[in-house]
Amino acid sequence: MKYNNIISEKNKGITIITINRPKKLNALNRETIEELHLAFDAANKDKNTKVIIVTGSGEKAFVAGADISEFADYDVSEGTKLAAKGQELLFDFIENLSTPVIAAVNGFALGGGLELAMAAHFRVASDNAKLGLPEVSLGVIPGYGGTQRLPQLVGKGRAMEMIMTAGMIDANQALNYGLVNHVIIQDELLPLCEKIATKIARNSIVAIGAAIKAINANFKDGVNGFNVEVQEFGNCFGTEDFEEGTTAFLEKRKADFPGR
Ligand code: COA
Repeated sequence: MKYNNIISEKNKGITIITINRPKKLNALNRETIEELHLAFDAANKDKNTKVIIVTGSGEKAFVAGADISEFADYDVSEGTKLAAKGQELLFDFIENLSTPVIAAVNGFALGGGLELAMAAHFRVASDNAKLGLPEVSLGVIPGYGGTQRLPQLVGKGRAMEMIMTAGMIDANQALNYGLVNHVIIQDELLPLCEKIATKIARNSIVAIGAAIKAINANFKDGVNGFNVEVQEFGNCFGTEDFEEGTTAFLEKRKADFPGR
């Protein structure tokens, strides 16, 4: 499919989705959010995509936030809808995909950009990355899940400070906070993400989808994560992947998972 603001490319079981508005530092306007929804949905439904990597085009920015020019004159009702629709179409959507999503943070990840990276299942950053939620400097708060996911990832006190100061942290600080899993020079960022993706892709995608569901359950109100784990664990016993994985182990060979 042809998009105006993003590029989606598949290679050896990995789909790389690149936000491609470098002149606007890949800011998320409405059309980009809609296109991202379509591209993530297509990649998640594609049986040959085992892992999705999301990144920004150019060397300067992952995503410098929601497109401020689009919402500067919104009223209360429009602002509320903007956050609700964005969360539903993109941020909650990504977090709940059964296909693993890695954010390759290649520069500024601010506001909606950091929120997008946090909706991914984990993050890898280039050493020039700068991360922050600067919304209060614009008179607004994070609206794409930032007030919820940042404390989950870095702890309440650090999230409070980052959000209140509207400041940016560098890649090493983000590593120290546990906000990103690895920091690497920019040229090596995608190769490292692809290396991790390849390692993931050797495992059962069905079991990985179940693990994502169980881990996410820990962060959902009113849901008992241990119960979800028991259920998902049990369901695995009915899959062909489980049969292949355990048989391959007992036969001392590498598993060749059918993905069912
Ligand atoms: N929304 C809309 N446009 C944005 C944007 C955003 N979030 N972030 C950057 N841009 C645009 C700039 O307006 C500029 O466009 P122009 O060339 O047509 O004027 C272009 O991207 C380049 O940005 P610029 O500010 O010139 O680059 P810089 O290197 O001087 O500064 C930043 C980089 C990231 C520090 C700065 O762009 C910035 O603070 N962006 C907004 C970050 C933010 O508040 N995000 C949260 C939004 S809720």
